[in-house]
Amino acid sequence: MQRDEQKLRAYFADAPEDISLEDVDLERIPRHVSIIMDGNGRWAQSRGLARPQGHVAGVDSLREAVTTSVRLGVDYLSVYAFSTENWRRPREEVNLLMHLFAKTLIKELPLFDQENVRLKFLGDIESLPKKTYDVFMQGLEQTAGYDGMTFALAVNYGSRAELVRGARALAQDVAAGKLAPEQIDEAALSQRLYTADMPDPELLIRTSGELRLSNYLLWQLAYTEFYVTDVLWPDFTKWDYLRAVRAFEGRGRRFGGVVQS
Ligand code: IPE
Ligand code: IPE
Ligand code: MG
Repeated sequence: MQRDEQKLRAYFADAPEDISLEDVDLERIPRHVSIIMDGNGRWAQSRGLARPQGHVAGVDSLREAVTTSVRLGVDYLSVYAFSTENWRRPREEVNLLMHLFAKTLIKELPLFDQENVRLKFLGDIESLPKKTYDVFMQGLEQTAGYDGMTFALAVNYGSRAELVRGARALAQDVAAGKLAPEQIDEAALSQRLYTADMPDPELLIRTSGELRLSNYLLWQLAYTEFYVTDVLWPDFTKWDYLRAVRAFEGRGRRFGGVVQS
């Protein structure tokens, strides 16, 4: 974990009344924070705007969440941007999102350079429109050498599809004689998921108040602490992030054992 204390204090200087940097223990910042960015459509509707404008506004929140994560010294930030089920949306909305992903990534690459952030994708990105895929590959290439935070963007991601893919990879290795069925254990499956080289999230944030996973990281979230806020994604700020971390630090994690005193 890398953290610039001076930048951190400056970043959280203008604190509102109910939350400040003093409210979190910097020694206990979660290593991996994951976010289901939800509520863009409702945000737009509540302002009399078209849904896509909610997605455009959501980009600002995402940029802020990346910066906040870096400032706090989070090692991994993963975010759910497009699910395997989101193809069911109107074609214009899907097209806009694909275009927005590509455009935003190109625009934000300097931020990754500046903050030493390595990009990663979770999901089947090969079946995305070519332009989006090409930009994603360029982003991967350009940030491959960075060793600060890892930013994992889940696009065309579905947890069930990921587990099926992992199971198929195991079966192929068994069929090829590279793996004995007895060698299939939790680690063997974990290594065949998109998140192979990442620790499981410690904190999952979902915005817009929905109490469901929507096919996100079913395996990886087995012991993750959940924080759901009614704030809609385009309204989510660094202070909401800090509130989530404060709530996380107040939880007693047991992993099936008993409370530590
Ligand atoms: C989340 O916001 C963004 C994506 C799923 C791409 P929504 O678009 O789901 O917003 P709501 O839930 O309809 O308000
Ligand atoms: C989950 O949000 C997917 C993303 C945030 C990318 P949805 O808005 O698609 O989920 P549901 O449909 O409310 O479950
Ligand atoms: Mg939604």
